[in-house]
Formats: sequence, C-alpha cells, structure tokens
Amino acid sequence: MKLHQFPCERAEDLYEGIQTLDWSKYLTPDLTLSVTATGKTEQLNHTHFTALQVKNAMVDQQQKRFGDRSDVDLQDPDVRINVHLDRGGCTVSLDSSGNSLHRRGYRPAVGFAPLKESLAAALIQLSGWQPEQMFYDPLCGSGTLPLEACLKSLHIAPGLFRERFGFETWLDFDPDLLDGLIQEAKSSQRETLSAPIWGSDRNPQVIEQAIANAKNCGVSEQIWFSEMDLADVVAPTDSGVVFCNPPYGERLGKIAIWARFINCWVTC
Ligand SMILES: C[S@@+](CC[C@H](N)C(=O)[O-])C[C@H]1O[C@@H](n2cnc3c(N)ncnc32)[C@H](O)[C@@H]1O
Repeated sequence: MKLHQFPCERAEDLYEGIQTLDWSKYLTPDLTLSVTATGKTEQLNHTHFTALQVKNAMVDQQQKRFGDRSDVDLQDPDVRINVHLDRGGCTVSLDSSGNSLHRRGYRPAVGFAPLKESLAAALIQLSGWQPEQMFYDPLCGSGTLPLEACLKSLHIAPGLFRERFGFETWLDFDPDLLDGLIQEAKSSQRETLSAPIWGSDRNPQVIEQAIANAKNCGVSEQIWFSEMDLADVVAPTDSGVVFCNPPYGERLGKIAIWARFINCWVTC
C-alpha cells in the first residue's frame, strides 16, 4: 500500500522525506519492523544504506515522540516497509503480504528443484488447461503442478494455507472482515474434481512428499500420486493434458530424458 512519494536524490532528502510521515498511524514502539529498499539514485546507490537511513528516520521519530522505538526483526517483522528509489523520487509502501506469496504454506516437504507454487499456478493458467480435462504430470517431484491444478479445480483459494498476511498486524486491521472473506472463499469450494489429476515420479521419496503435501492441502482423497518410471507410463485416458517440469542440465545433472519422454508420449 503506497504511503508517500517525494523527490529524493541524497541521504538527507531521504531522511527528511521519511520523517514527514506520521509513522504512529502504522507503527507503535511495541511492533517490530523491517525495511527493504530497491532502486537507486546517483548518491543513494547502496540499497542496504538506503534501508538503514529509512529505519533511522522512522525510529528517531518514534524515540522523540514516545521515548521508545520499534525493534528491527528481519525474519518475521510485524510491519514491513519498502522504499523504492527511481528517477529522483522515493516511493514508500507498506507490505501487505508478509512472507513471499509463492510460499502457500502447504509445502514444507519439497523434492529436488521444486517449482515455486505461484509459478506452477501461473503456468497452468497460461496453458489453457480446463478442469474438465485430465491433468497428468509424469515427473511430478513433490507434486507442485498437480497440487496447484487440484486447488484451481476445487476452487480452493491459495492464501488459505498461509499462517498470516502482513496486513494482519496493521493498526487498522479488521479481523471480522478477513474472517468473512475466508468464509466466503471456503463456501465456494468444490468437493470433487471434474476430471482426474494424477502425478507420478520414479523416486519413491518424492512421491511420499507429494502425498504429504496433498494431505496438508486437504486434497489427498481427490488427487492421485504413484511411483512410476517415465518409460513405463501409458496414457491413462483417451485425452487430457500432460504437464511437467523435467530435470535438466546443470541443475540436476545431464540426464537425457527428453528423447525418452517424447517417444513415450507419442506412443501413448
Ligand atoms: C525438476 S524435478 C520436478 C519438480 C517438481 N515440479 C516439484 O515441484 O517438486 C524432476 C523430477 O523428475 C523425476 N524423474 C527424472 N527422471 C525420471 C524418470 N525417468 N521417470 C520418472 N521420473 C523421473 C525426478 O525424480 C524429479 O523428481
């Protein structure tokens, strides 16, 4: 949420600009704080220094007004501030998300080179896959692609698994409003899939992880994971969509599975 924008070239401009905001509206001394900075100007070209300068301006204001100041917590702060420097201007924002939104919260168990949940969801969205089509990932690892497809198909809002959002510690946070929105999201969920969703992988350990992740999402009864080598795969239905994130090159070793995969699917 954008709070303020002001011209800013030098460290002094930054300090003064930050102090023109009344920070008591967003932050009391009992709340912890972290500041991130992006962008630069000719003189403010070190994001770590920029963030420190902003934090100093904020806590100096608190100290003067309350005789007390917020502690800094870089891991799990109550209030996160972002400042962005660009073309001689500074934009100050409150971070409403908290921890990165790609961490849905259902996946403590991850295999080798897992896809980010949000990237998996975006790829599925772009692919044109429809929940009425069977979805199959023959290299599913910890199951991110089938799980995201399953959440989409069952209308399960991805944010439901998060422990909390950044805005939940804002001073004007309305818990009843959030509860209402959560209930609304839950009431639009579906019980059953329109078409099967299946993931398989040759590694039994990652299949165990995928099943654990499905349990965390509450969809282990709907989705199907099994241990199988790609070479043994046969088409599970007459039509559907194959969606996968194969191992490749430097990240996981030079495993030439593409030719086998394409052969396999053409055979199917
Ligand atoms: C890049 S990872 C997939 C990661 C997955 N998208 C996730 O989010 O966890 C590739 C997967 O392909 C699997 N794999 C490699 N060769 C295979 C084969 N011949 N048959 C089946 N699975 C295979 C590996 O076990 C690995 O889990």
